[in-house]
Amino acid sequence: MKILVINGPNLNMLGKRDAEHYGSDTLQAIEQRLVEKSESLGCELSFFQSNHEGAIIDFIQGKAEGADGILINPASLTHYGYSLHDALVDAGLPVVEVHLSDIQHREEWRQTSVIADIAIKQISGLKKQSYILGLEALVEHIKTGKKK
Ligand code: DQA
Repeated sequence: MKILVINGPNLNMLGKRDAEHYGSDTLQAIEQRLVEKSESLGCELSFFQSNHEGAIIDFIQGKAEGADGILINPASLTHYGYSLHDALVDAGLPVVEVHLSDIQHREEWRQTSVIADIAIKQISGLKKQSYILGLEALVEHIKTGKKK
């Protein structure tokens, strides 16, 4: 089982961003934790981070065939990334949306997700644990063979 793990703009700066919202782990540390989890879940992860919406779309278009699901923290693209939304729809794969911070209890503009309607699940506010629970939920969904 192959999972694409995608991180959007500014998440390469984790570890230096506001720890109260995002925790103090670097993206590399989160990815390492996901690799450990993937071993017990029996899946293979392919990581990608970019500060550019188009680069993320290129990655999805290039890798969707041959993948089984997408775990994504779209970062600020969550709130306005319609091109990303469309690329995720076109990929035809189950998507789990994760956030480190609790986007429902921050600024009003963060409370809207243009990705949520196409995601099988949204997990937010649990810092790096959001990713772990997100991966578990995605793998479970794929294993039980549910349609998107
Ligand atoms: C984020 C929340 C977004 O609003 C923000 O723009 C981010 C990170 C999170 O993980 O909490 O960059 O997606």
